[in-house]
Amino acid sequence: MDKIKVAVVGCGAIAQRRHIPEYAANPNVEFVAFCDPVTERAQKYANKYGAKAYSSYEDMLSEIKPDAVSVCTPNALHAPVAIAAAEAGAHVLVEKPMAASDAEAEAMIEAARSNNVFLMVGHNQRLMPPHVKAKELLQKGHLGRVLTFRTSFGHPGPEYWSVDGPGSWFFRKEEAVMGAMGDLGVHKSDLIRYLLDDEVAQVTGFIGTLDKKGTEVDDNATCLLRMRSGAIGTLVASWTYYKGEDNSTVLWCEKGVMKIGTDPHDQIIVELTNGSVERYNVGAISTNDKQETSGVVDAFINSLITNTPPSISGEEGRKSLAVILAAFESQETGRVINL
Ligand SMILES: NC(=O)c1ccc[n+]([C@@H]2O[C@H](COP(=O)([O-])OP(=O)(O)OC[C@H]3O[C@@H](n4cnc5c(N)ncnc54)[C@H](O)[C@@H]3O)[C@@H](O)[C@H]2O)c1
Repeated sequence: MDKIKVAVVGCGAIAQRRHIPEYAANPNVEFVAFCDPVTERAQKYANKYGAKAYSSYEDMLSEIKPDAVSVCTPNALHAPVAIAAAEAGAHVLVEKPMAASDAEAEAMIEAARSNNVFLMVGHNQRLMPPHVKAKELLQKGHLGRVLTFRTSFGHPGPEYWSVDGPGSWFFRKEEAVMGAMGDLGVHKSDLIRYLLDDEVAQVTGFIGTLDKKGTEVDDNATCLLRMRSGAIGTLVASWTYYKGEDNSTVLWCEKGVMKIGTDPHDQIIVELTNGSVERYNVGAISTNDKQETSGVVDAFINSLITNTPPSISGEEGRKSLAVILAAFESQETGRVINL
């Protein structure tokens, strides 16, 4: 079988730490292009993998016919790059949040459909072993219905992550569109939809910029969610957990509680009302400091090889984004938003 020709657009932190190494480790992949306006970033990987470097994705797409494109750019470029790639006939793996608006997300889905290519969103939280195990345990049914939950994701901020440090696009509203909510909140809206196998029905959000200087994007958010099942919970995103980085979810159910990511050793602890306790050591949850293989790239390539639509589809990314956009609408209007 011919190898899948991959182009990576945006050669910053997530490309360097996850996409590029995970493609490089996949025997079915061959790199054809790297693209970044900071040309030395693209050139470094082009040299390493015998591919071409570009500073413009339009030039790259007009000269090269990649089979697949990873979109690892600032948020505002996700839709234009993904649509251009789909129109050039390439399958697309786009980072989260998939778009800056619902209309953009819809246009991306339509571009993929009409060009007969797959669109996958990099919602890697779903593939982390503790979350896979948590879903399996919930499906087993011994905890009963989820009644209430909290899911939170906080770290010290993207200045400690982005290749451009404190000067990063993450703080510029025109490029980022959203702050902590687009960076971290959307991970948790996606995770809670996935774990509960349910959709968010209502959202309220308190969203603000509490401590980051010189930016208009949010650095903190606390949201209330009501699921269609009736379950009620909170979703928290923060860029000001200067100590106590957190990526955890707790589900209080009819017959006990499931704690995910609250213990450094056992990533899942289930405490049942009958007194029994189950502890699962199933592999770590990624943090900024300690990156785990995401599995996103392998899942994307596997979709292409088997010609099976990706489970983390554009439609899924759109629904997870809609929760975050509704929280912003709630913040602006002071109202509960129905989805
Ligand atoms: N799935 C995850 O867990 C996860 C984690 C971090 C970031 N992300 C997402 O990945 C995306 C990239 O974030 P990052 O952390 O790599 O940021 P980063 O600042 O480290 O890198 C962004 C890169 O994009 C480049 N870029 C800017 N304009 C471009 C253009 N027109 N064409 C090509 N490249 C361009 C920049 O020069 C930079 O090299 C964001 O959407 C972010 O939300 C996802």
